[in-house]
Amino acid sequence: MRQAPQGDEDTSAQRRAWGLLAAGGLGASLLALHAVVTPFVMPALRRVCLPFVPATSAQIENVLEMLRGRRGPLVDIGSGDGRIVIAAAKRGFKAVGYELNPWLVWYSRYRAWRDGVHQNAKFYISDLWKVSFSHYTNVVIFGVPQMMPQLEKKLEEELQHNARVIACRFPFPCWIPDHTTGEGIDTVWAYDLKTSMGVKQNA
Ligand SMILES: C[S@@+](CC[C@H](N)C(=O)[O-])C[C@H]1O[C@@H](n2cnc3c(N)ncnc32)[C@H](O)[C@@H]1O
Repeated sequence: MRQAPQGDEDTSAQRRAWGLLAAGGLGASLLALHAVVTPFVMPALRRVCLPFVPATSAQIENVLEMLRGRRGPLVDIGSGDGRIVIAAAKRGFKAVGYELNPWLVWYSRYRAWRDGVHQNAKFYISDLWKVSFSHYTNVVIFGVPQMMPQLEKKLEEELQHNARVIACRFPFPCWIPDHTTGEGIDTVWAYDLKTSMGVKQNA
């Protein structure tokens, strides 16, 4: 029986090695892609779809306007890339963001550190429906209309009467806002619980 020349055997072994390497590389790339993309897609598959849409600069300015003269701890519910928490920390608030997507939380922590406000800007990987906001007197939410009735109820149960809630782009269904600023998609509504809840209860 004729044996294959040594040179041919070396070439096919090399091809097999390259094939394995390419398959391994492709598998690793797909896994990495899956790990990065899944946290961004998952919010869209939940009962209430709340995707990552960052606040515009005008929206942030409007939120800060509604915080003028306020003190006390602040929370951004679904904090995305941390821009509202970081802007509030720069204004002297002890600000916290709760966010489901770990990549966004890690990125927010990096941004807070880069901007020198990491002492006052903290971020946690958490589901907003499983966190109590009772500790906060300033609450910011950029949500979607489907979640606002349920969130209104949750905040009513948890917040103290001196809390101010600021809703971006979509207002709460029952509360009557005390202040409104901005236009179109940059509109924000501020609700002082002691008056907003009173208005609702008397309605
Ligand atoms: C409309 S974005 C607002 C981001 C940020 N607050 C801003 O104004 O730039 C809503 C954020 O909520 C996050 N999110 C969605 N479902 C959540 C949940 N159940 N718990 C916590 N965060 C959630 C999304 O990943 C997204 O980053």
